[in-house]
Amino acid sequence: MKKAIAFLISAALLLCGCAFHADEDELIVVGFSQVGSESSWRIANTRSMTETFSEQNGFELIYDDAKNKQQNQYDAIREFIQQEVDYIVLAPITETGWDGILTEAKNAGIPVIIVDRSVSVADDSLYTCKVGSDFLEEGAKAARWLESELESRGKKDVRILHLQGTRGSTSQLMRTKGLETAVAANPDWEIAAQFECDYTEAMGYEVTRDYLEKDKNINVIFSENDNMSFGAMRAMDEAGITYGKDGDVIVISFDAVRSALTECLKGNINLCVECNPLHGPRVRSLIEQLENGELPQKQSFVEETVFDCSTIKQEDIENRAY
Ligand code: AHR
Repeated sequence: MKKAIAFLISAALLLCGCAFHADEDELIVVGFSQVGSESSWRIANTRSMTETFSEQNGFELIYDDAKNKQQNQYDAIREFIQQEVDYIVLAPITETGWDGILTEAKNAGIPVIIVDRSVSVADDSLYTCKVGSDFLEEGAKAARWLESELESRGKKDVRILHLQGTRGSTSQLMRTKGLETAVAANPDWEIAAQFECDYTEAMGYEVTRDYLEKDKNINVIFSENDNMSFGAMRAMDEAGITYGKDGDVIVISFDAVRSALTECLKGNINLCVECNPLHGPRVRSLIEQLENGELPQKQSFVEETVFDCSTIKQEDIENRAY
């Protein structure tokens, strides 16, 4: 009788697209090593992962917050291996430094799924597959928008204050590459200064405040996430510098979380480049493919857009899940 009930539950779970595990003992165990909680984007990403990998959905999630330290990610992965999890999901802080620990996971026979940023390893069989944003395209989109914006204003020369995310992370490396490629192609563009702000509002504020004390002659803030943009905007308010649609400084921001879109609608941020954090269902779909004996695509990118302060609409904000 028990077997018949278990079979019926399994069939029902299968029909609703849930994992094929009828009782608690059969939950799929996922060890997730998260970067930290540096930004609104990251908090939305953690929520997406924890909501998706719930017991109700057939998973046991072992979550570890690395507090932005790679050594903590090594320690977490070693623990996941000892706990014999079914899958390791890694949101890597930086691109390099993964060969050794991922070899340990491979030797233990545990599939590794990379989410959000990438890893740069000599042997790409060290991970099973990867899902995240095309960060180079994000940077390039921002640069293309700036080119056309300046053209429509009849302005050529600009001095850019560049606020970078965590150095060595894919999102920083690629967004920076997108900007630097455009600067190399536009002789009248100058990067006035470049600072690492670790994707936090506090550093975006402090760095911009200190910089503006020495040099107020900037026309663009290219800020690699929304939280750093909020910090920079506060510093400009204090320094009496206007920005946004009708201001002196053009603000370009990455992520497009709801609070940034609200600032964009008000005209305080000129461009929000979307970086979508809702990876939970995407990672779940990769695990389900593996559970079904399928081999998922090695690398998949998320579709993303941009929001311009002249065209953004109230419904873009209302429809925002994060
Ligand atoms: O890797 C994605 C980046 O990490 C987001 O742009 C940033 O907000 C986050 O912390």
